[in-house]
Amino acid sequence: MFEYRIPDINLILGRGAIRQLASVVKGFGEHALVVTGRASMKKLGILDRVLEDLRKVGVRVTHHGGVSPNPSVEIVDKGAAVAAEAGCDVVVGLGGGSAIDTAKAIAVMLAHPRASSIWDFSPTNQDPTPIESAFPIIAVPSTSGTGSHQTPYYVITNTGTGEKPGNGHRSIFPRLAIVDLDIVSSMPPQLTAETGFDVMAHALEGLVSANANDISDIHALTAIELVWTYLPRAYKNGDDEEARERMAIADSLAGWVLSVADTTLPHAISHPISGFYPGVSHGMSLAILTPAAMRFTIDRASQETLRRLGRAAERMGAGMGTGSAAHCLEQIQELLKRIGLTKRLGDFGVEEGRINEVAESCLSAMSEDLDRSPVRPSFEEIVGLYREAL
Ligand code: NZQ
Ligand code: MN
Repeated sequence: MFEYRIPDINLILGRGAIRQLASVVKGFGEHALVVTGRASMKKLGILDRVLEDLRKVGVRVTHHGGVSPNPSVEIVDKGAAVAAEAGCDVVVGLGGGSAIDTAKAIAVMLAHPRASSIWDFSPTNQDPTPIESAFPIIAVPSTSGTGSHQTPYYVITNTGTGEKPGNGHRSIFPRLAIVDLDIVSSMPPQLTAETGFDVMAHALEGLVSANANDISDIHALTAIELVWTYLPRAYKNGDDEEARERMAIADSLAGWVLSVADTTLPHAISHPISGFYPGVSHGMSLAILTPAAMRFTIDRASQETLRRLGRAAERMGAGMGTGSAAHCLEQIQELLKRIGLTKRLGDFGVEEGRINEVAESCLSAMSEDLDRSPVRPSFEEIVGLYREAL
């Protein structure tokens, strides 16, 4: 028996899809909070266009920008105060996962006016405030990506403690996601590589998760094949329309995997790295740590997990019936090489002396991911994984 719950998927994907945003938002509210990162959406002219389109259909707009990668409690709380003051009734997340997650978290705050901070809801608290509802969220991703436009989660960092847990509720699932291929095609190569590898991680981790089921497996295996085939192409030539489209589709498929099977060991150990070292992007931390996590798992995993990784290898060029877990790891390393992600933790200033603290945060903030993993590492083994990636 399994349950497959993804509330009411509403997804528009294609070139120029952003044209539909204003009329959709009008169906959900009268005053939109538009949340963006620091500069990219403004520079590309997308932000101004969205604000103008919304005003044209009679929707009032407030803009909350300046969201940095690995968004903080402070940027959410500030945005929630601005939105409440302005009377916003719908929230648009326009940008990468960081802008979309901030939009989601603000939508939660707006629905709980008595909450003093988004951290009140953090699952790392002794007695977290339960999420009961959220204001309507519309997601427009500019990366492919985190899958955030198709998940009921947000990930917010407490910069004081370095904790970076995810939190979720079905009301956070965006009412509509608009994936405009012209927008995701504007990603420069390095960002294409880092965010594209995140898609691979969601699919591969979901495939071996304790929560995987026959339907999430289909999406995961398809996403693995798409990323393997098209990410190197999108990285080499950002104008390769087919590659951009296939990566956007893989991102959405992997988002559904994430919503059902969820993430496991690589995400569990990578979140605290970005929590303590916000300069290490989510995708980069996964690229650095996934091979070590896979090696650890393959050495200790059940036959069923090894068989699953073998099926993934088959989708990455091994040929039907010949895939093995070891081959899967080789192909992941090959993919990382092809997309130029060969850095190590030490390249970003991660010091050996802080690894114990990072590993403690992994155990406390990411315990659910560890529980779902095919092999659950001990504290010492987590420290070992970080050492291996230094
Ligand atoms: O800040 P701006 O100027 O917008 O620039 C951003 C940022 O510097 C830039 N960028 C985004 N789209 C662009 C672009 N630059 C040029 N062209 C474009 N089209 O890219 C940089 C990184 O942006 P960010 O939003 O941080 O990247 P990403 O999409 O990888 O999002 C990462 C965040 O999502 C969370 C991660 O933990 C991380 O905080 N995740 C959210 C999940 C969810 N909600 O379900 C699941 C994921 O596993 C992940 O944890
Ligand atoms: Mn991810």
